[in-house]
Amino acid sequence: MLHGVEFYNETMLRDPSLVPLSRQHHHALVLCVLIDRHLKTQTPAPAVCNELHRQLAAIVEVELLHHFEVEENILFPVARDVIDSPKVIDDLVTQHREIEELASRIERTSGEPQIILLREFGDLLRKHIRTEEGDLFQEIQDKLSVDQLADIGRKIDETLRKTCPMTGRLPWEEDRQ
Ligand SMILES: [Fe+2]
Ligand SMILES: [Fe+2]
Repeated sequence: MLHGVEFYNETMLRDPSLVPLSRQHHHALVLCVLIDRHLKTQTPAPAVCNELHRQLAAIVEVELLHHFEVEENILFPVARDVIDSPKVIDDLVTQHREIEELASRIERTSGEPQIILLREFGDLLRKHIRTEEGDLFQEIQDKLSVDQLADIGRKIDETLRKTCPMTGRLPWEEDRQ
């Protein structure tokens, strides 16, 4: 089984309004670590690839697509007005589409090409989350007022509770089929 990753180290204080999104980032980073760890060898066993593929498909369906929607519909429009470089938002939205496209190509591929795409997916998702956590979220919580943060926090929380509530399990451990 591919689980048991404990690596996440919260080095910065996250405003409560953004914590639900940060928790989902944590889940996604667990998958990135699993991809890294299990696809290091040149020829990983097919069962390993199948399991990673299953985990990836589950996280995309259970959390990631809803996560992207919340960022694009609630967080990014507010962030765009306050951050120094709104182009960062454009780049992040482009990456959302690239991540979705990679996930869909992984669905349609197998063997060595799938391994290459899985690695690419892990690398892009990690880079994406680093930008959001390390730069964007920090800047948002530094620049928005307490009231603005509380307002988007409420909207984020309400939406995520409906679309992909936290259960304490990783997305691929859920049984929501
Ligand atoms: Fe994002
Ligand atoms: Fe995100």
